[in-house]
Amino acid sequence: MTKLDGKTVLLGVTGGISAYKSVELARLLIRAGANVKVVMTESAKRFVSPLTFRAVTRNPVADTMWSDPSSPIPHISLADEADVVVVAPATANIIAKHAHGIADDLLSTLLLAVRGRIIFAPAMNEKMYLHPSTTENLRTLKQRGVVIVEPKEGELACGEVGIGRMAEPPEIFESVKSELAKSDSMKGKKIIVTAGPTREHIDPVRFISNPSTGKMGFIIAKRAMMRGADVTLITGPTDLYPPDGVDTVKVVSARQMRDAVFERLPQADALIMAAAVADYRPAGGRAQKKIKKSDEELELRLEPTEDILLEAGKNKGNCLLVGFAAETDNVIENALRKLERKILDLIVANKVDHPESGFGTNTSLCAIISSKDFEGEKRELEMMSKVEIAEELLGFLENMFKRNA
Ligand code: CTP
Repeated sequence: MTKLDGKTVLLGVTGGISAYKSVELARLLIRAGANVKVVMTESAKRFVSPLTFRAVTRNPVADTMWSDPSSPIPHISLADEADVVVVAPATANIIAKHAHGIADDLLSTLLLAVRGRIIFAPAMNEKMYLHPSTTENLRTLKQRGVVIVEPKEGELACGEVGIGRMAEPPEIFESVKSELAKSDSMKGKKIIVTAGPTREHIDPVRFISNPSTGKMGFIIAKRAMMRGADVTLITGPTDLYPPDGVDTVKVVSARQMRDAVFERLPQADALIMAAAVADYRPAGGRAQKKIKKSDEELELRLEPTEDILLEAGKNKGNCLLVGFAAETDNVIENALRKLERKILDLIVANKVDHPESGFGTNTSLCAIISSKDFEGEKRELEMMSKVEIAEELLGFLENMFKRNA
């Protein structure tokens, strides 16, 4: 399938010698039916004339925040229009600017306003590509979900041989196609995602909780929304900003999370429980007034909270259930036990006692396992960003929806 009819691709061109290859990329996109809008930086215009892109795309080329009288805020309208943004070539400069949120020209400014998918195809001299700043900036972008089409080894414009050549236009074109395919692959699906910790209050100022920051659940909710799903995010207390386009419901305790989930479960196609729900709360409820300190020992009696997934498993109907297993040892065995006990369709086994994997990290060491109904597939993932894990998980879920259809 190469038809990109009705899709708008925003092609950002920055100042590298491979800017001429982006003309070919624009042509491939146009031939596949896309509407291509080009934004050029000042230095890009030294390599290729805007007229060339204008002739190929039949659209005006944008290069400044200030010149289009029909749109006083072109950075917002261009960002809103685009189904996908591809920056090719992406210089070390635009990579650094976007990694740090710098907005000092049209392209860098509109990149901050994009809520959809972004692809970067880096191109530069090998020394610049391997500089720790560039490596770090690319890592930051990847962790935020920017797709990087890796540069290749070969002869570089400076005459040296090494890594840094921009990927060829057909490879970048394939990446644009695959990102566009994902952009409505979950259309019509209602998905509930839970995130963060719960708090079980002992008295008005003290509570039992855990170190969950909510990152994984927030990322899953955002990426599911970017696939076109209708997403409700039910979250315990976190410092995160609710993702745009996601209906966010804030709760505090396990009981509130349970009620919010069950109110919506009958209409849902999938429930993804990424929340770290507290397993116990103070027995008999919280003290109404602050407990005063004394020299006596204080005994705290606890009672189990509702197990939301266990309860959902018993009344799941056609809803697919996805659990997370936070484990320190026997990760796979423990996760498999939870998958069966809670009658889940999919479980993400997560190692949580590793410095780069677990609460608050940007990366995680996981395995994704499906139930026997879905062939009991087990995929052990290398250490990867939470965005990449969310994409793997949603890929699984999408295939399961297709099988159930
Ligand atoms: N979960 C839930 N309700 C709870 C506790 C957990 O729905 N009261 C969900 C979590 O959101 C997660 C899955 O169950 O998706 C597994 O959570 P985890 O804490 O790993 O396991 P527990 O069932 O709590 O078992 P244990 O703490 O003994 O490992």
